[in-house]
Amino acid sequence: MSMDYYQPEVLINEDEIAKRVNALGKEITQDYANEEVVLICVLKGAYVFCADLMRKINLPVRLEFVSCSSYGDGLYSSGRVKVEMDVTGPIENCHVIIVEDIVDTGLTIKNLVELIQLKSPKSLKLASLLYKPSRTRHETKIDYLAFEIDDKFVVGYGLDYAGRYRELPYIGFLNAGH
Ligand code: PRP
Repeated sequence: MSMDYYQPEVLINEDEIAKRVNALGKEITQDYANEEVVLICVLKGAYVFCADLMRKINLPVRLEFVSCSSYGDGLYSSGRVKVEMDVTGPIENCHVIIVEDIVDTGLTIKNLVELIQLKSPKSLKLASLLYKPSRTRHETKIDYLAFEIDDKFVVGYGLDYAGRYRELPYIGFLNAGH
């Protein structure tokens, strides 16, 4: 193991994650009762959550991906989000669920919801693995939320720090300075 690798502390373990993902899958299955749903996975962080969640949804599911980046001049955020990679399949008149790993300030999801609405889905909901209420700047309704967390720097289960830790099977946090 390299010298600068810090082992994150466990915040939410594998079993706890699996239970919540299972429950959300059941809820979605009931809510859409035999209708097809389109999951839009927001890369990269959400892909682990999305992969597990879709296998707990007992409905016809189509999978789409988007990739976003917020842009500014480096000193302050412009408050806008750019779609780097858009969906490729049809969305119009479909039941769509955006799948995020974390809603932090809410900027990404606010912009993304607006952009997906332009594609005229039949319905649009949001699923998120994590939500940090203490950081909210843009209010967002999360229809399917796995966990609300404190303002910790979380990694694992898809979430990264500088590209690392996405492969961890649990949600961990890095202590200040790491
Ligand atoms: C993270 C996360 C959300 C966004 C949340 O993405 O996946 O999309 O930030 O932050 P916000 O609510 O303040 O907008 P990130 O830019 O880290 O990309 P990644 O998923 O590819 O790691």
